[in-house]
Amino acid sequence: MTGISGTGDMKKILITGSSGFAGFKIYQVLKSTGNYEVKGTGRSHGECVDIVADLKDLQSVENIRRHFSPDIVIHLAAMARTDICEKNKDECYAANVISTRNLTEVFPESRFIYFSTYAVYNTQEGNCDESCTVISTNHYIKTKIEAEKYVRVLEDYIIFRPSVIFGYMPLEIKTKNYFMQLLEMVKDKKVMRSPADQFFNPVSVDTISEIVRLSIDKGISGVFNIGSNENISKYDFNRKVMERFCFDLSYLEPAVPDPNTVKRPGNGTISSQKIQSAIEYKIPDISEMIDSLYDEVKDNDDILVM
Ligand SMILES: NC(=O)c1ccc[n+]([C@@H]2O[C@H](COP(=O)([O-])OP(=O)(O)OC[C@H]3O[C@@H](n4cnc5c(N)ncnc54)[C@H](OP(=O)(O)O)[C@@H]3O)[C@@H](O)[C@H]2O)c1
Repeated sequence: MTGISGTGDMKKILITGSSGFAGFKIYQVLKSTGNYEVKGTGRSHGECVDIVADLKDLQSVENIRRHFSPDIVIHLAAMARTDICEKNKDECYAANVISTRNLTEVFPESRFIYFSTYAVYNTQEGNCDESCTVISTNHYIKTKIEAEKYVRVLEDYIIFRPSVIFGYMPLEIKTKNYFMQLLEMVKDKKVMRSPADQFFNPVSVDTISEIVRLSIDKGISGVFNIGSNENISKYDFNRKVMERFCFDLSYLEPAVPDPNTVKRPGNGTISSQKIQSAIEYKIPDISEMIDSLYDEVKDNDDILVM
């Protein structure tokens, strides 16, 4: 372990999964405020990792506590890919459920902010608010619902259920988020077939980071969805991104499944009114979030020189 000494009266925040996509950004945003002492954990060393620990291992988590006693735990670490979870069920259970149990046991008096997923809802109607029934339609979702149960017994918690998160990550960081996958397809000159009949509420990682910051500042607690206010199909979202980045649209095709052979998916849309009222913040429009992403990366040759 490196660099885990305390700094005066600043609130201490432990971020798990800070080597991953969302954890990396949230770590940078909270640290840059100068208001918090922030420590990140991952299984591997990295720019935003202060403590290397495997959270499945209770002793590793206890070891964190011996050096750093956080006021707030932001728990993002997870096996987050549905396909990988399906193929490695035990590992997925350990990464998502056992790790959460270990953290809630070792830090029971910390404010606990847990990242679950919008995929816990599966209805035909969509626009689910936080009172919608949750149901596990695959192993990943099952582990997220089970992990939520460990968080709900704590005194002071937030459970976020974000929709698909998009944003830029340096290419050397091996994480697959929605935008980076799209970028990879474009770079490889592969045709991307996106469902025109699956709707969702993509949200930028910068918006997520701002919501986390405000939620900490305002001291809210409870369960909150996070997603764009507009429902958009995956095809239309990809199209918007590709248009903004001036990518060749001939690499994008709508994929409409044959209703006779393919079971229609549930509607994955959510309502995020509750979080916006709680922290008095309006989630930006999808176009605004894409514009901000463009501004962030427009001088990056990796992206714009194809
Ligand atoms: N990205 C999305 O669109 C999305 C949408 C809804 C919800 N979420 C949830 O948001 C959270 C963050 O997602 P993300 O996309 O940022 O994930 P990610 O990029 O895949 O990062 C996952 C992180 O978890 C760490 N990790 C995994 N197993 C661990 C273990 N046993 N011990 C310690 N660390 C472990 C990884 O560390 P190493 O890399 O060092 O192994 C990595 O830092 C997840 O809980 C995910 O379920 C994400």
